[in-house]
Amino acid sequence: MIKFDFKTYTNDLLSDEILRGYEKKLSNLDNFLNTNPNMAWNEVDNLFDETIISDIDATAQYIKNNCDVFLVLGIGGSFLGSKAVIDALNPYFYNETKNPKIYFAGNHLSSDYYHDLLELVKDKNVIVNVISKSGTTLETSIGYDLIMTFMKSKYNDEELKKRIIITTDKEHGTLRQEVINNGYKSFAIPSDIGGRFSVFTPVGLLPIAVSGINIKRLYDGAKKATENIDNQIKYAIIRAEMYKKGKTAEAFVVYEPKLYSFAEWLKQLYAESLGKGEKGILPISFVNTKDLHSSGQFVQEGNKILFETVINVLISNNNIYISKYNKTLTDINNIASTGTSIAHKKGNVLNNVISIESLNEESIGFLLQFFMISCVINGYLEDINPFGQNGVEEYKKAIKELL
Ligand code: PA5
Repeated sequence: MIKFDFKTYTNDLLSDEILRGYEKKLSNLDNFLNTNPNMAWNEVDNLFDETIISDIDATAQYIKNNCDVFLVLGIGGSFLGSKAVIDALNPYFYNETKNPKIYFAGNHLSSDYYHDLLELVKDKNVIVNVISKSGTTLETSIGYDLIMTFMKSKYNDEELKKRIIITTDKEHGTLRQEVINNGYKSFAIPSDIGGRFSVFTPVGLLPIAVSGINIKRLYDGAKKATENIDNQIKYAIIRAEMYKKGKTAEAFVVYEPKLYSFAEWLKQLYAESLGKGEKGILPISFVNTKDLHSSGQFVQEGNKILFETVINVLISNNNIYISKYNKTLTDINNIASTGTSIAHKKGNVLNNVISIESLNEESIGFLLQFFMISCVINGYLEDINPFGQNGVEEYKKAIKELL
């Protein structure tokens, strides 16, 4: 299902000698993974517990039957995972072809956006899912206030109970208080699961299910990624070695634009988890072949600060034949990926290549869990605590003071 090539375009950073250097640390890895209280997201059987999944499936069905527009409010880990999966697994232009239409908000402070969004949905039948573990995040709180003002102008209290769904901490925070005060439907975010590791909690799963994706099959993929973690370890070691070689940026590269949001999710996962103590690799992303005509120049001939991790999709669900080359467009896309890795290696930019057979629930479920596990192992190997994000708290504090 998934192929890992951590060798052809990387000068083999996994030689016996290099691996020996990690032996001692790795001998205690299982203990670290199994005893760390922040690892609850890796217990996928608990996350996909029958009671939770039935509630999510039933609520998703209710939403699909009862609105034309589903608004999802949240920022960072409270929306990037669901957006990644929804974009990867739905057809392009899904909002033009599917019902309900799904719009994201609460992840910026653009008044133009809210103006245009509210214009767009004013005559529509709307259901809202606000997602915030803390309930205090500025962008999501402002979004919630704006959307609630709109919703209250359109629906009475009884109707709002059928249209507002809150995903937040089980006990604490202002949003939990909203649930208690108004009787809104709610989902609980487990207190021991951080935002960027929460895609397989109701944070991610409810919007994903509303978009028509089979969440049980996501579980199948995620579960597989927990069963054997050899490649997660290898990728973590490669990142640590790249860093030692002075590589301070990693580009996540996709050749399928549907994976743009997946790369955004990856950027958050790695930046917030490992960008600490004035250490870490800056994650960036390229959507090729588009970016070969812009950033590609930098990669080939510019400052050698980066390496790339390429995610290929080998088979398309829709094959288009290009007679000029006697090949399918997907074959040409994959040849472009291989050719680019060859060229970039010549330009001293090394590439890890991860290939999935096709875009489906299992492969995406696998990749999400694969990267979460590998990221944590990477932190463990380099003595960086992958959990928490105090740096983000600093900016929040500074804005609050200014406000
Ligand atoms: O990974 C994280 O924990 C963060 O990115 C949070 O998800 C983000 O800051 C949003 O927080 P909250 O869900 O509390 O609004």
